[in-house]
Amino acid sequence: MVMSTPPMGWNSWNTFNFHINETIIRETAEAIVSKGLKDAGYEYVVIDDWWSLKERDKDGRLVANPELFPSGMKALSDYVHSLGLKFGMYSCAGLRTCGGFPASFDREFLDAQTFADWGVDYLKYDFCFFPHNAVGRNYYNRMSMALKATGRDIVFSACNWGADEVEKWIRSTGAHLYRSTGDIFESFSSVKDIATSQWSKEKYSAPGCYDDLDMLICGMDGQGDLGHPNACSDTDYKTHFALWCMMGSPLMLGNDVRVMRPEMVELVTNKDLLRIDADAECRNPIILTTNSELTPTYFKHLSNNEFALAMFNFSDDAGNGDFRPWEIGLTRNAGFSLDMREVFTGEELHGVNDFIWTPLAPHDCKVFIGKYTV
Ligand code: GLA
Repeated sequence: MVMSTPPMGWNSWNTFNFHINETIIRETAEAIVSKGLKDAGYEYVVIDDWWSLKERDKDGRLVANPELFPSGMKALSDYVHSLGLKFGMYSCAGLRTCGGFPASFDREFLDAQTFADWGVDYLKYDFCFFPHNAVGRNYYNRMSMALKATGRDIVFSACNWGADEVEKWIRSTGAHLYRSTGDIFESFSSVKDIATSQWSKEKYSAPGCYDDLDMLICGMDGQGDLGHPNACSDTDYKTHFALWCMMGSPLMLGNDVRVMRPEMVELVTNKDLLRIDADAECRNPIILTTNSELTPTYFKHLSNNEFALAMFNFSDDAGNGDFRPWEIGLTRNAGFSLDMREVFTGEELHGVNDFIWTPLAPHDCKVFIGKYTV
């Protein structure tokens, strides 16, 4: 299968971690449809860790916990598919999942077939309890082959948290996306740390295999075991989402979609940002930190001869975002300038060919889409 744009969907971990069950998954899938998220492109409904029994069955197969998933995974998968969505699950390259459940080390071909039999369209593949004397690269490749051997189109979501310089080899394993960092938490510093950790690695993300910056925390609003009440403002969520889109990251919601506020639905369905995220070329942004690493500027070429320009303020104080066109090769006498429109406010700038700056509230950003004029 060709994964020509970064996958979009929802994953249970951020909010529900060890408290998942089939009712939550069904209701979430229904909410993804009723709130218009499916229409915006969010299609994969992914059950993370904690779904299985602690032991395999007598044939060595993984078994869904019947208390949490009494209808079984195939019935749940059928229901998710009946809503026009796709179904995702979780396993791990090591001997146990991070939660201590059976994982797929040396059981790859059997487990891949089990997932295919259940109608799985997406597999997140973690890295806990991986033997130190084994080579991770080979075991990601092994599961990738196992998934392909089922003949079913299954998105392979590698999750080794950036270990072993994953960005340099993961594309060669056939994976469609790769987690490049440790886990996100509901805080602006977590967002900032993940974003800046990719400042020398952004070039590795490209169509077919995308740098996964981890699930979104937008709209978590302090809920769930990984939520931190009052940790994030709506401005924090806005900048978080804009950063992930400027990087062309997969967009997996991590909040309780059933109670998602309209403001958050509006944010994550912003058409301009989704267009930037899913741009056909998935070019890495040029990242400028001339003013300060706390106020970086991202310039990203889009297909159709357009560009995106984003100015961020990572600081806890009010600051100024700026853009110095000469730093990307555009000088005043070039005979060209930039026209652009801000994606949240509609503010327009015309004829930009020299230094511009804009005041930014703490943690805020501005994101423009634009084109060139003579
Ligand atoms: C790891 C992953 C998380 C989540 C948990 C589940 O920490 O990075 O995204 O899948 O395991 O236990």
